[in-house]
Amino acid sequence: GAAVEVDVSAMKPGEKLTVEWRGKPVWIVRRTPEQLDALAKLDPQLADPNSDRKAYPTPEYAKNAHRSIKPEYLVVVGICSHLGCSPSDKFQPGAQPSLPDDWNGGFLCPCHGSTFDMAGRVFKNKPAPDNLEVPPHMYLSDAKLLIG
Ligand code: FES
Repeated sequence: GAAVEVDVSAMKPGEKLTVEWRGKPVWIVRRTPEQLDALAKLDPQLADPNSDRKAYPTPEYAKNAHRSIKPEYLVVVGICSHLGCSPSDKFQPGAQPSLPDDWNGGFLCPCHGSTFDMAGRVFKNKPAPDNLEVPPHMYLSDAKLLIG
């Protein structure tokens, strides 16, 4: 399939774009400093904090604390690793009473309640077995992201 080029330069902190790549929704989120700070504190609550599982291998350039090339920009496939529903945005703490106490935003799958943090990592004891897939991608310039 064709690669998709996206201009991310106009995105503001907290904004999300969805683009289609090979028939899948790919989310690009420009994370806020607060959202980035929260990531490290969540490790004990996550099923696979370092993205070591192999079902959806995380590219080497995204195997880091923020799970991305540029810390601010998350790039993931917006399809739940359980049975393929599309999680919805729950960026704000307190948006969902049943979520973990220190939930600091992320994504909630409406089908069976799996929750993901702002790096697309799945919380423990949820049906989804794996983190959200990081698609192959690279930056052509500061502004231009190439997915695929
Ligand atoms: Fe997402 Fe089941 S499809 S939790």
